[in-house]
Amino acid sequence: MRIAVIPGDGIGGEVVPAVLPALELLGDHFGLGLSYRIFDWGAERWLAERVGLPPDALDLLASDYPAILLGALGDPRIPDMAHGRDILLGLRRGLDLYVNYRPFTPRGGDRTIALFRENTQGLYAGVGGTVSHGRHPAVAIDECVYTRETVEKFLRYCLRTLSESGRERVTLVHKSNAVPHTGRLWQGVFRAELAGFPGLVGSEEYVDSFCYHLVRDPSPYEGIVASNLFGDIVSDIGAALMGGLGLAASASVCPETGCALFEPVHGSAPDIAGRGIANPYAAATAVALMLDHLGHPRAAAPLRRALAAAARTDSATPDLGGHGTTGTFMADVMKRLEKDLADDRPEPR
Ligand code: NAD
Ligand code: IPM
Ligand code: MN
Repeated sequence: MRIAVIPGDGIGGEVVPAVLPALELLGDHFGLGLSYRIFDWGAERWLAERVGLPPDALDLLASDYPAILLGALGDPRIPDMAHGRDILLGLRRGLDLYVNYRPFTPRGGDRTIALFRENTQGLYAGVGGTVSHGRHPAVAIDECVYTRETVEKFLRYCLRTLSESGRERVTLVHKSNAVPHTGRLWQGVFRAELAGFPGLVGSEEYVDSFCYHLVRDPSPYEGIVASNLFGDIVSDIGAALMGGLGLAASASVCPETGCALFEPVHGSAPDIAGRGIANPYAAATAVALMLDHLGHPRAAAPLRRALAAAARTDSATPDLGGHGTTGTFMADVMKRLEKDLADDRPEPR
């Protein structure tokens, strides 16, 4: 099983190398036959060669790498994020990773809310432009584009996954009062697809009041489905409810091909990059999501246990209230993981 690893920019280049030893240890222990190759796509390469996603990248990934681990993209030297759109949005759209699963577990609760974000269309469809008068753009347009086909296959996959996970409630987040065309398309498809899942109770909320209710009390929510930009914004709120962006991870999946990309929800965090204090929890949880996806939940579970236990100690990074560094935290995680695996040897055949 080959994994493409793209550390990327800023703290991406700190947290991804920090979590690879955990992936190696689990791969060896459970005999998963994992190997990985590191790709240097990111700001440095863009600035040096103007190469974002190399021309052969999508074919290579689609044929040889069923899983991709990405750190983050974003560099203050490239303020328009041209390289980030080329690489990140290029991968999401180019590999048709239309389902973005961003689970979050609000602090103090024990239930994980399953947030699904459509990942390829909407305001990210790349449709738009500017009309200039003189040197400045006088009109700027970014179109929100949705096809029924994508909304249908996205919502059908989400509802099936939610119902298989035993969840009973799902909320559609939309803004059909102000953005009626795509909003009504989503509502119509949501209602039609729900009919196929009698165990699920659907509700619909405007994104503004939804955010208000989620922050005040997340406990009524079990599953959330949202279009691209709304899901992006809600996932950062979800991270805040967990206790910080250092904790939240995400999986972008094409259910038809099985191709998938795993990454933290956070970005390259230039404000703390280079200081060794980035929290690797989210990147490690992205590894756990990857192991789940590859069919190895038994390998993901001890990693999640070790992360949760280490996060409660002083070895945790400052965003969690600890005095640790990326390195001390992962050293603590590895120690716990090794002990957990030694205590729980696979059954002899
Ligand atoms: P950010 O997520 O990078 O950071 C927001 C805040 O959270 C910062 O204060 C940061 O220090 C903190 N933070 C984030 N991750 C952390 C971690 N692991 N440990 C401790 N603290 C952490 O968002 P931003 O500052 O708005 O964006 C920075 C750059 O990253 C921008 O170029 C943006 O476009 C890009 N970005 C990329 C991705 C991605 O690659 N998927 C996601 C979000 C933002
Ligand atoms: C994310 C990020 C990206 C997005 C940006 C960097 C393009 O915010 O992965 O959440 O908007 O999807
Ligand atoms: Mn985001």
